[in-house]
Amino acid sequence: MSEPRDKNMGSTYYGQNDVSNAIGGFSRIHSAWITHVEAVQRHSEEAEDKLSYISECKSEHERKKLGSYYTPTDVADFFWRELFAHNKILDGEDALSFLRKHHFVEPAAGAGALIFALFKRLLGLGVTSEQLAEIELSIVDVNNNALAFVEKQMKVLASAWDVSFNRVRLLRDDFLSTDLSRGFKPYFFFGNPPFVANKKGESPWKNIYADFLEKALMHVGREGGIHFIVPLSVAFSRDYSVLRAMIMDTRGTVCLSNFDNIPDTLFKSGKPSHTNTNKANSQRCTILTVLPGRPKKLLATPLLRWSKKDRTNLLSQSPEYFDVSEYSFDQQFPRPESYAVLDYLDRAAGSPTLGSIVSKNGSHRLFVAGVARNYVSLREGPANGVHALGFESNDDFFLGLGVLSSDLFLSYWLSIGDGFHLTKENIFNFPLHHTLVRECQRNAPALRLTWKVRQRFQKRKLNSGRMTKSFDLRYAVPSLVEA
Ligand SMILES: C[S@@+](CC[C@H](N)C(=O)[O-])C[C@H]1O[C@@H](n2cnc3c(N)ncnc32)[C@H](O)[C@@H]1O
Repeated sequence: MSEPRDKNMGSTYYGQNDVSNAIGGFSRIHSAWITHVEAVQRHSEEAEDKLSYISECKSEHERKKLGSYYTPTDVADFFWRELFAHNKILDGEDALSFLRKHHFVEPAAGAGALIFALFKRLLGLGVTSEQLAEIELSIVDVNNNALAFVEKQMKVLASAWDVSFNRVRLLRDDFLSTDLSRGFKPYFFFGNPPFVANKKGESPWKNIYADFLEKALMHVGREGGIHFIVPLSVAFSRDYSVLRAMIMDTRGTVCLSNFDNIPDTLFKSGKPSHTNTNKANSQRCTILTVLPGRPKKLLATPLLRWSKKDRTNLLSQSPEYFDVSEYSFDQQFPRPESYAVLDYLDRAAGSPTLGSIVSKNGSHRLFVAGVARNYVSLREGPANGVHALGFESNDDFFLGLGVLSSDLFLSYWLSIGDGFHLTKENIFNFPLHHTLVRECQRNAPALRLTWKVRQRFQKRKLNSGRMTKSFDLRYAVPSLVEA
């Protein structure tokens, strides 16, 4: 049933475009194969509601326990487009050798969103359905119904294409105990493992996604790869600093695309739940790629934010990746806002920190909200969740104020903070390079005047029935980015 590949396929790179847009030059049969996969993708997306609730009564609690939140098709397509770009899979020949080289493992398959998106991308680059059927693929999940669904969709494709997927095995298993010792080809792990808190003492990691990632890291070898959707905490949390060291120990290319959760979220259905009042804390995700065989490099995007109307735009192009291989400020994988902030942190290494001018008993007090979004929110007085910073002198107070209300500090926090909390640690660790201190001193007279009339920069927000007032000095103070 398969046809020879289009001769032009080899020279074209479709990395920036949606596959569907890239198939103009395809034979009709090739386009038909892609249409079949797209139909399966639609089924798979629709099946979430039925499959991800394990219990008959559709218990949200049970769903949460298994972390059953499936990847939307647009995210799955983005997922593979980025991997192919990072792995320099640029044409049909590259795609075929990627396919033949690996034993693919989807450790938590759900309804197969990432499997079918992989098929679509391979076909989109010119692999034939017959070649695709050679794939060596282990599909693992603890949910029998989900596996049965994936099996059925594979049969639909096999029958439409007149091929058989002889090297695909479906395993109803806990991935953490799945035997991976007998693989001959290098493993390529891809998935969106469950994000579920481990019970105390169950694992060295707080969340099961880290167990999945650790197991993949143990088996990836030099020639394999890992491409996972994981919580953003992998990039910043101290709980996972050892995991980050393990990732870096692979000595290859590591890429992270980082996604915020406001205003739009990556997972349409909500992960873990719409009813979660702490939604602001959930759903921030990273697509993490680990390619041990490629040159040693660490690439990361800023924390991407987008509104619903920009979703298609966001997911149909590659984000900007910053090369953070030389980053040494803390043990994070930063979400760099700009090279300027990275340069500043590099230049200011070893300088005294903002914490060194804060004094518990200092009589000049500055109040800073413990959460932030687009600006550092300064407050008039003490309140729950507000940091009270004391300074011994008026000069130190205005240095602190100048720094905290600056564009540089906001960029710093966006790059190393969790995107929501502005912690005391974030504030205290900010390094005060002498050129920045000098610039702040120069700006101090103007800042004193601004502070006097701060009511002009007041913002009001109703929070659980209570009016919160804050000062946003972003546009009232001079830029410190070049300081
Ligand atoms: C976040 S969903 C992702 C599903 C699919 N990979 C996707 O991207 O749409 C996580 C899946 O992990 C499965 N799961 C949870 N614990 C597991 C375990 N220990 N071993 C294998 N699968 C597991 C759940 O049943 C669920 O299907």
